[in-house]
Amino acid sequence: MKRLENKVAIVTGGASGIGAAIAEAMANEGARVCVADLSLEACDQVAAKVGNNACGCALDVTDQASIDAAVAFVEQQFGQIDILVNSAGVFGMQPIIEITAEEFDRIVGINTRGLLFMTQAVIKSMLVANNGGSIINIVSGAGRKASPGAAVYSLSKAAAISLTQCATQEYAQQNIRVNAIAPGTTETPMWNHVREQFQGMYGVSPDDAITAATPAARLGTPADFVGAAVYLASDESSFMLGQTMSIDGGYFIG
Ligand SMILES: NC(=O)c1ccc[n+]([C@@H]2O[C@H](COP(=O)([O-])OP(=O)(O)OC[C@H]3O[C@@H](n4cnc5c(N)ncnc54)[C@H](O)[C@@H]3O)[C@@H](O)[C@H]2O)c1
Repeated sequence: MKRLENKVAIVTGGASGIGAAIAEAMANEGARVCVADLSLEACDQVAAKVGNNACGCALDVTDQASIDAAVAFVEQQFGQIDILVNSAGVFGMQPIIEITAEEFDRIVGINTRGLLFMTQAVIKSMLVANNGGSIINIVSGAGRKASPGAAVYSLSKAAAISLTQCATQEYAQQNIRVNAIAPGTTETPMWNHVREQFQGMYGVSPDDAITAATPAARLGTPADFVGAAVYLASDESSFMLGQTMSIDGGYFIG
């Protein structure tokens, strides 16, 4: 029997990067997967690659109606939701004296507010199904350790780590487990965007310095997170609650 047989997963930000890799790994382990992201076309493309009758669903985590519709869609397609992966996220770089209210709202709106209300909608669904569940938040090492120019992103992820613990305290009794994965720098479309911003601010690519400061001596790839995600989604991790697993090649040690 596969490790996620008979389970249903919804993966936000599932059309790209870390989310897409996790969606595929969960489908390979037998889960029915809904790939949820801004573009339905991109979701459908990833769902076709993911296999195991995965489906795509348009989702904007900043829009409550969109969240409610996505949750209802998955319930209708697959019956219930057992696993939520909150991978939707955005980055932005500005020194603190240049942060605008608009940029604060954009980043926190997706990384924190969006994660909270997506979690809320799925927990409501899990409570009705009365069958427990596993929620996995893709946070960041930046939520635990500061680096210059990333204040809003860092605080948005620190809040997501806190929410991981808060939701655990509130719903553990209903067998809903909430954990997080904190990636280090990872080669995805998001990182390509960060690299460009960093180069614009400091005139050099950050890759060499990060690689040099990483004990594993490389950046991450989306494949580095799928084992942990499958573990956290499966019953193998039934005693693991409220944790944030650092997977960063050792970059954020200490
Ligand atoms: N790449 C890294 O270096 C890195 C490091 C640490 C943490 N992370 C986190 O990992 C997660 C995945 O990032 P990634 O690197 O795979 O990036 P990515 O850009 O490849 O994927 C992020 C996805 O989120 C989606 N998204 C953005 N806004 C959304 C919204 N409002 N509603 C629904 N979906 C939305 C995007 O369309 C995109 O497909 C993010 O939460 C990110 O903060 C990434």
